[in-house]
Amino acid sequence: MQHDAIAVIDFGGQYAHLIATKVRRSRVLAEIRQPEDPLEAYAGFKGIILSGSPSLASFGEDSDYNKAIYDLDIPILGFCFGHQEMAKHYGGTVVNGAQEWGRADLHLAREHALFAGLGPVEQVWMSHFDSVTAVGPEFEELGHTILGRDGAPHRFAAIGSDKLRRYGFQFHPEVDDTLNGDRMIANFVLDICGCSPTWTMDNYVQEEVAKIRDQVGDRSVFLLASGGVDSTVAARLLAEALGPERLNLLHVDNGLMRKDESAAVVEMFKEMGLDANFHFIDASDTFLAALAGKIEPEAKRRAIGDTFIEVFESEAKRLGIEDHLLGQGTIYPDTIETGGTKRADTIKTHHNRVPIIEEMIAAGKVIEPLAELYKVEVRELGEMLGIAHDMIWRHPFPGPGLGVRLLCSDGQDADEAALAAIAPAVDAALDAYGLAGAPLPFKSVGVKADLRSYEHPVLIHGQAGWDDLAEASGRIFKTVGGINRTLWNLGGALPTRFVPLAATMTRDRLDLLRECDHLMMEGLRRHGIYGEIWQCPTVLVPLAVDGCGREFCILRPIHSERAMTATAARLPLELLDELRQSILALPGISGLAYDLTSKPPGTIEWE
Ligand code: XMP
Repeated sequence: MQHDAIAVIDFGGQYAHLIATKVRRSRVLAEIRQPEDPLEAYAGFKGIILSGSPSLASFGEDSDYNKAIYDLDIPILGFCFGHQEMAKHYGGTVVNGAQEWGRADLHLAREHALFAGLGPVEQVWMSHFDSVTAVGPEFEELGHTILGRDGAPHRFAAIGSDKLRRYGFQFHPEVDDTLNGDRMIANFVLDICGCSPTWTMDNYVQEEVAKIRDQVGDRSVFLLASGGVDSTVAARLLAEALGPERLNLLHVDNGLMRKDESAAVVEMFKEMGLDANFHFIDASDTFLAALAGKIEPEAKRRAIGDTFIEVFESEAKRLGIEDHLLGQGTIYPDTIETGGTKRADTIKTHHNRVPIIEEMIAAGKVIEPLAELYKVEVRELGEMLGIAHDMIWRHPFPGPGLGVRLLCSDGQDADEAALAAIAPAVDAALDAYGLAGAPLPFKSVGVKADLRSYEHPVLIHGQAGWDDLAEASGRIFKTVGGINRTLWNLGGALPTRFVPLAATMTRDRLDLLRECDHLMMEGLRRHGIYGEIWQCPTVLVPLAVDGCGREFCILRPIHSERAMTATAARLPLELLDELRQSILALPGISGLAYDLTSKPPGTIEWE
């Protein structure tokens, strides 16, 4: 192994990735390992971190991992579930109880290398049902926590054995609410494990450039350039190693891109000096033909995926792709089991399973220069390679593009009786806030307790602060069945008649959505808050309102960390006023609303 590295054992998806990115922030390589991996998978690592997990150590859940790791002569640090497992393994006791949620104060028992540079009391973040109530003979208590002003001490919040070099934290140092968590992780990695901080972007570029030259030899590379961050940075890095003339790029306009986006992508590659072998195909007619008449979200996705394969295969053959290596912007979380969201993964896999690509992978003809990096590192690399800041920090955009933001309908789904039946419960939930509301006659996708739901939204009307709107939404989800979203009406009055219309995926409708989306994006930039918002879908639903218009527009600005959960962002009211003026004035728009729903129970996208 070229760099000192730490293995992070993944007991629970998202935690492990967050830990690995924090280790890497101290310039030490971190790689994810699975609980059942054999001992050989740890060869060369200088330390191990055990992640948290949704499982309960007290009931022995998830306890069948490879415990031979404890025989390795390298330091091990456990967080939450990992801390409890560590305590149990060395003779301690874990019980189901003494749960804590949120911020707590960690009171240190003594000075210790793990907490070097920190004060005697540190703010940490707690989220657990189980607790360690006793430690084995070789362990000591390094700190306890107190939550709330008069809270009783929670014992054994930090434990350790310097002799065994085994440590555990009940709290989560990887989350930002543990204010000095980065320092604690760095202390473990650099001091206790003795790693050298050599994992820098400069070194990465040098090593990767050498690797690319070695793998490619005197051949050339073919890369699909969607305009997204990963493929753009991959293109730039490949060009750095091989020179632009040995890089063949293909950009496909599928007709589901944002306003003027394909033109901007072409321009961007030109500005980067990567246009020597840049190919562009406008395949929007082919995609629209495949989508004609499709209404069901999954049917639309399939049509988009299949057409992509068709277009890619015919272009690749025309350009003689078999003669090249295939470059892909695959990043680290894509290469391991638990990365990303399940649904996004499936779609990506779909694209990566194009038969021609499968053949090339089998023949060892694929090159993935970002396969060791996380998204934030890809961005850091992109900045270092001189790619424009705005491009690097663009919001994520789904593979099927506006295809998942333009709802289609046969106009039959009014469900009037069901909606009339729940209307009184909606009124009752909103009454205390001085708000009115109406369930709407269409459905969108959501997620409840990890299961997908397909339910109606409620349109809330009235003047209220953000806190009241959020609370009122919560009350609706709790007391009214069959609802998975709440929307805030940005139109003038609460409409009385909503009529679903028959509509499919047409260029006219896509153009109208492109215009609404463009106004939204422009607004975020004008108010200087584009970078604060994680993602902001704009959605059109075919719906006439009080006999007018045919497209109901919904704005969905959210905050999120990695799309697994999300909360509705609170945009400036002045911006909402501007959007009300501009979007409601577009021909065909029947109404405008603001999606207040967090994820869960809503998803980020609408289909
Ligand atoms: P949801 O809607 O599931 O979205 O909360 C989570 C993240 O995944 C993106 N997304 C998709 N990406 N194909 C993709 O490539 C899809 O079909 C798809 N659906 C959602 C979404 O934009 C968000 O960032």
